[in-house]
Amino acid sequence: MSNIKDLRIAIIGGTGEEGRGLALRWARAGAQVTIGSRSVERAKEAADELNRFVEHNPIGYARNRDAVSNADFLLLTVPFAHAVSTIEELQTYFPEGAILIDITVPVFFEKGARYVELPEGSASEHLRARLSENIPLVAAFKTEPAHLLVDPDEKLDCDVLVASDSKEARARVCEAIRSIDGLRPVDAGPLYSARTIERMTVLAIGINRRYKIKTACYRIVGLS
Ligand SMILES: NC(=O)c1ccc[n+]([C@@H]2O[C@H](COP(=O)([O-])OP(=O)(O)OC[C@H]3O[C@@H](n4cnc5c(N)ncnc54)[C@H](OP(=O)(O)O)[C@@H]3O)[C@@H](O)[C@H]2O)c1
Repeated sequence: MSNIKDLRIAIIGGTGEEGRGLALRWARAGAQVTIGSRSVERAKEAADELNRFVEHNPIGYARNRDAVSNADFLLLTVPFAHAVSTIEELQTYFPEGAILIDITVPVFFEKGARYVELPEGSASEHLRARLSENIPLVAAFKTEPAHLLVDPDEKLDCDVLVASDSKEARARVCEAIRSIDGLRPVDAGPLYSARTIERMTVLAIGINRRYKIKTACYRIVGLS
């Protein structure tokens, strides 16, 4: 990626808090962002609301399938329970070379947040096993709290753990994340690392609850 302004990002299920937060941060970084939804009205409503806080390059909106058909990065921000059906429905519309960025965390609540154990080890590996081989998959933003991202006045100060079996896709996503104010990408290696990253999110939800906050995130120290 030579210029962030050339990067086209579609946010699948971008009407939720996590999707809206990422749309806002990428748009402020200068990327061309489209909020996708199953309903074009809901997508418009979300984009209109966010565009009050975006000075240049306003966020667009579309149905999920139209949003993905013309993008370089496809961010999957639907609940994990609907991730596979969403991918199955949309993957024929993915442009060649586009990178799917999986943000989902399989979590349920029973006396606090609990991780949904999956045979593949993580949500990202579960999706990888069901995704066409030629679509690069990157796990990222799994530990970034929606509450922090979506608040236009909040300054970010978090690391984004980025995992993928494609070194090239990992590098491209890390490079693009560097353009978002307050977020630092950290190369977390192969997709296998998603097993740890997703559990770190569950840990952060518990920390939030005990400390009565909504914004716990991670910073790795010692990186030069
Ligand atoms: N919340 C956080 O702090 C956080 C942090 C890290 C990762 N995540 C992950 O980010 C993802 C989004 O989180 P969220 O809290 O923003 O979720 P959410 O608000 O529950 O859902 C996001 C969007 O998904 C779409 N959706 C809902 N049901 C669907 C279905 N049956 N089929 C297809 N699309 C459906 C909806 O969009 P439309 O109705 O407009 O289509 C909805 O607005 C989750 O996987 C979560 O684990 C969240």
